[in-house]
Amino acid sequence: MSTIIKAENIGIKFSLGKKGYKKMQLTLGDVLKKGNQVRSTDDNSYDFWALRNVSFTINKGDILGVVGSNGSGKSTLLRIIAGVYSVDEGEIEVSGTISPLLSLGTGFKPALSGYDNIFLNGVIMGFQKHEIEEHVKDIIEFSELGNFIFEPVKNYSSGMAARLGFSIAVFLKRDIMLIDEVLGVGDYKFREKSQQKMREVIKSGQTVIIVSHNLESISEYANKCIWINKGELVMEGDTDEVLKKYVS
Ligand SMILES: Nc1ncnc2c1ncn2[C@@H]1O[C@H](COP(=O)(O)OP(=O)(O)OP(=O)(O)O)[C@@H](O)[C@H]1O
Ligand SMILES: [Mg+2]
Repeated sequence: MSTIIKAENIGIKFSLGKKGYKKMQLTLGDVLKKGNQVRSTDDNSYDFWALRNVSFTINKGDILGVVGSNGSGKSTLLRIIAGVYSVDEGEIEVSGTISPLLSLGTGFKPALSGYDNIFLNGVIMGFQKHEIEEHVKDIIEFSELGNFIFEPVKNYSSGMAARLGFSIAVFLKRDIMLIDEVLGVGDYKFREKSQQKMREVIKSGQTVIIVSHNLESISEYANKCIWINKGELVMEGDTDEVLKKYVS
């Protein structure tokens, strides 16, 4: 089996508490009046490690589930894999092309229409215009957005944006598909349809990383799972075993 992602002791830190707000002494009125001036010039910044000492490998065709409580670092991990963030510690090797990070609202230019966003995402993913044109009809049809496809994405509901993101990712395929909590967003009918599509995608040998709080989806799709808590890897292994420990 060929390794497609190998992460070794990766860590990423954010600088928090920059320019502390002296908000305790201020009323909302002061804040509104003074705007930015309420920022203190004191530098109270400190490093916050959103992920640390995280190691795992993903082979071609693996469906990796990522679980963990809110703020544990799951989306940050996907952003690292997608190349949006670079690590401060350790090493990560990604040997494949990545589909755009599929998460709510990200990846889209709100002022552009859904139609233009299909092309924008396609180009960012490295597709040629004619390759995108080959799939655009399928994407629009699958998303069921109708004429809204020509409206700016900023006017979409979160479910509509998720439909479009999902449709783009399943038709413009790259080596690794990253899914951050979008499977459960559509309405009941779209969810059924996207679950069916996911089964097809998985059967085709696609490598997928799914972040979700919906453990049923993780359990159905993922053959491997990692559990992250407060930025640290608690467990990596077989999905059923990890989920059993995670919920206990
Ligand atoms: N750009 C950033 N600057 C500062 N802190 C950040 C940044 N991005 C993420 N964080 C922090 O890193 C931690 C992990 O965030 P992340 O979004 O990865 O959590 P998550 O596991 O995806 O949570 P959820 O289940 O709520 O989606 C959080 O404490 C978050 O506030
Ligand atoms: Mg998240």
